[in-house]
Amino acid sequence: MSTRPQNAYSPVGPVAARGGVRANVYHGKPASSVTMIPVRPVSEVVVPKVSLDGISLSYKTTSGERLLALDNISLSVQPGEFLCVVGPSGCGKSTLLHLIAGLHPQTSGKVLVDGRAVDGPGTDRLMIFQELGLFPWLTVGQNVEFGMKMKNISKAEREEKTQHYLRLVHLSKFRDSYTHQLSGGMRQRVALARALATEPDVLLMDEPFAALDAQTRDLLHDELERIWGETGRTIIFVTHNVREAVRLGDRVVLMTFRPGRVKQEFPIVLPRPRHIEETDVARTAKEILSCLREEINKSLEAEYADEKNR
Ligand SMILES: Nc1ncnc2c1ncn2[C@@H]1O[C@H](COP(=O)(O)OP(=O)(O)O)[C@@H](O)[C@H]1O
Ligand SMILES: [Mg+2]
Repeated sequence: MSTRPQNAYSPVGPVAARGGVRANVYHGKPASSVTMIPVRPVSEVVVPKVSLDGISLSYKTTSGERLLALDNISLSVQPGEFLCVVGPSGCGKSTLLHLIAGLHPQTSGKVLVDGRAVDGPGTDRLMIFQELGLFPWLTVGQNVEFGMKMKNISKAEREEKTQHYLRLVHLSKFRDSYTHQLSGGMRQRVALARALATEPDVLLMDEPFAALDAQTRDLLHDELERIWGETGRTIIFVTHNVREAVRLGDRVVLMTFRPGRVKQEFPIVLPRPRHIEETDVARTAKEILSCLREEINKSLEAEYADEKNR
């Protein structure tokens, strides 16, 4: 049963008009260079993969005050869903992922994965950060193997999975290279292969492509969409880039400026594969952006007020 946020499920015009279409079905005629995203059956989902039930979190600041970062967030993520979270800087997007990863406890409310309460990190969830955390002294292959070693996976299985996941991200040829010999986009793909190799059910991605140039990012969008289609993982992807969110997501959740709340949810039912430059992607992004802009303005006002008070 999906828990809707306090502030309603209200898709904007064109999104609502296309309601009911399975997001990962490709409806157009494929060009020869276009990858088909496999259609996964729409199952009768009973237990959400991840659910947040009235989550609030306050941090203690250095001056000893409490800062309410997240306020009463309720959200359900279905198995195999690609959920994107957007919001202004400082609205609590990273904090939200940390809670799901079990890296930080919430102040109140519940985080459930497969219906069970999260009480710490687990191998079923994995975070990928913008700073990838790859080890420069290890080769690409050894980096991919690293997470599996931590999970005590046998040598033979590690070998098989390293090969498989490097092939999936098109990096088999670079297995013996060191990460400084690779481009930024290739390093991102190593991090993705390393994460996928541990076979987590849920991938938590925190602005992973923010530092990449536009062309590399476009390619990674294609790769991530294909890999998501092939592996059936649940992805929760945080970005401040609305077009990126519409390009990738089955649904976009828009958060308010501090304290972070769910302002609105937008189901994205545009056919896949999508491209960031498509008119429909741009149009949907524009509608979400106009809602986001109000929150960005609030964040700027708060920043300027802080400056004046100094
Ligand atoms: N460890 C922490 N201690 C105190 N405040 C924090 C901590 N981490 C984040 N914050 C504050 O919580 C708010 C949300 O932060 P964050 O989740 O990083 O936002 P976002 O990822 O959306 O930019 C911000 O105001 C930030 O300054
Ligand atoms: Mg962040």
